Amino acid sequence: MRVVFLSPGYPADMPKFARGLAEVGASIYGVGDTPRDSLPDNVKAFLTDYLTVPRMLDEQDVISRVSDWMRGRSVDRVLANWEPVMLLAARLRERWGMPGMSVDAVIGFRDKEIMKQRLRAAGLRVPKSKRVHTAAEVHEVAEEIGFPLILKPIGGAGCSDTFKVDSWADLEATLPAIGRLTEASCEEYIDGEEHTYDTVCVRGKPAIENVTLYLPKPLEASQQEWISPMAISIRDLEQPKLAGGLALGRAALEVLGMDDGFTHMEWFLTPKGEAVFGEIACRAGGAGLVDQFNFTCDIDLYREWARAAVWGHFEASTTRKFNVGMIFKRARGWGNITRIEGLGRWLHACGGWVVQDGLSRPGTPRRDWKQTQVADGRLIVRHPEWDEVMRMCVSAATDIQMYAQ
Ligand SMILES: Nc1ncnc2c1ncn2[C@@H]1O[C@H](COP(=O)(O)OP(=O)(O)OP(=O)(O)O)[C@@H](O)[C@H]1O
Ligand SMILES: [Mg+2]
Repeated sequence: MRVVFLSPGYPADMPKFARGLAEVGASIYGVGDTPRDSLPDNVKAFLTDYLTVPRMLDEQDVISRVSDWMRGRSVDRVLANWEPVMLLAARLRERWGMPGMSVDAVIGFRDKEIMKQRLRAAGLRVPKSKRVHTAAEVHEVAEEIGFPLILKPIGGAGCSDTFKVDSWADLEATLPAIGRLTEASCEEYIDGEEHTYDTVCVRGKPAIENVTLYLPKPLEASQQEWISPMAISIRDLEQPKLAGGLALGRAALEVLGMDDGFTHMEWFLTPKGEAVFGEIACRAGGAGLVDQFNFTCDIDLYREWARAAVWGHFEASTTRKFNVGMIFKRARGWGNITRIEGLGRWLHACGGWVVQDGLSRPGTPRRDWKQTQVADGRLIVRHPEWDEVMRMCVSAATDIQMYAQ
């Protein structure tokens, strides 16, 4: 099987998917804008060949370069797991008449207004929302929807340019901040706990599912630096309070025409217990969600995704063994990390339940917490009991402090 895999070297978790593809026997033709010599070693080893393009996000240019490069060679799949190139993958598939999701289907997972329209038309609970282009349109929609509301990009990621707006005065203050966008989504603010619904699908049906609880909501975590954001996968998916979210997720996959591969949805559980749609993508969740999924079931979804995407099979166990908590830390101060307090005590207290200590060590420059969820590193801890994992997560958030200077 010949697989064209887009952007195998960036972002940092892509080499793991390349490894998975190689392990299920695919020959990988990578395409990316990282120069070949700068590719991480952990991806070079898995590539049969690699094409460097000047700008990965210039779709027309990449399509013509890749077509020239592959001329005379047969290709069986075009795959990707990075949001900005999911449509490009679909365009290449369509051009070459290849199996996999169409451009139209991928648009339903990329455009935050089209996805909501399609789901709304199928009777699913999505926030009221409209696509807006001008300040006048925002005012009109705000009249209709009322406050609080959310203004966000149509194809955004990482909470960038996402704003909660509480009043007319707040709206006036926010408009300049999104002024450079040519279009945005203006939507009803949904109160409640925010969860993910993640899957690997085969022919559109989930072969495995996961639900992770974000603490706090990503939008809040993206505004307050002192917060240590947490994401905890939930071992027991049978509990009644999750039933609405699981049903919503399964229905969304059906309506949007999912095929093979990862999906990553976000949804809200309101104080009244209603499940409300947030957004969905037809790729793996970022910021460690695949690792967390793997630790939950003790499996390797980098490889199983590849098996599903290339061969249409899924073989990993779906037995859920653990609740898995990820805690992301942000140091106090700027410059280089100088010391970490409380880590030794925490590691000792948690014993064997810690599965990853990925905190940046003294001497490492601070990362920009607004740009990357991983910030100054993360800890991963797991336990079969929810209360136990929660206790360890809260302790990591409050009892471990990092300092920079
Ligand atoms: N309608 C809404 N009601 C309440 N909160 C919302 C709403 N839309 C977005 N948010 C908040 O803003 C965050 C970012 O929005 P969204 O997930 O649509 O954008 P994103 O930039 O793709 O995020 P990411 O890449 O971090 O998943 C959400 O995780 C949620 O916390
Ligand atoms: Mg999101």
